[in-house]
Amino acid sequence: MSPLDRCLVAADNARRTLAGASIASRPCPQPGAPPAQALDDAQRRLSGALMRVNHVGEVCAQALYHAQALATRDPALRKHFERAARDETDHLAWTQQRLRELGSHTSLLNPLWYAGAFGIGWLAGRSSDALSLGFVVETERQVERHLQGHLERLPAADQASQAIVQKMKEDEALHAEQAEQAGALPLPQPLRWAMRAAAKVMTGTAHYL
Ligand SMILES: [Fe+2]
Ligand SMILES: [Fe+2]
Repeated sequence: MSPLDRCLVAADNARRTLAGASIASRPCPQPGAPPAQALDDAQRRLSGALMRVNHVGEVCAQALYHAQALATRDPALRKHFERAARDETDHLAWTQQRLRELGSHTSLLNPLWYAGAFGIGWLAGRSSDALSLGFVVETERQVERHLQGHLERLPAADQASQAIVQKMKEDEALHAEQAEQAGALPLPQPLRWAMRAAAKVMTGTAHYL
């Protein structure tokens, strides 16, 4: 593909992500047994807020991976990012479907999150391939810890959301491992702190908006 074609693909992905038109290529993870009891209103609201935060994370994952794929000049690395982005598309579609089932909504600020993450992904991608991969490792590890926290906070009765979050956590761990194997450089500590602070603002806001 020419650079222009790749820009058009990235623009189309942004449109699909923000329009909620992403389609999963793997079936949505299901709990082992049917739910023993229905969620009450408070549980449903909490699950909706947590799954909205996770959906925002997946909107950002789309933006980051597509920006990094666009920014690298290495065709093999571009393929690596595109492969990971396909897993993230599944996460995006699963969390969106679950939000719908919970009667909740996606974040009103998704265009803002997407634009910000795309800019950061582009800068990471242009810095160097090894640092771009290092950024993936740090992001995926932070997301993995965040998802573990959500597994502990989701209502015990909401096994449908838990099954999705559990599978996402496994995929994010794999993405971090694959980026490490592809030659990631560790990021400087201040940058990791900055990423954690930015993620805190994002997750704190998406809980409500
Ligand atoms: Fe993900
Ligand atoms: Fe990931």
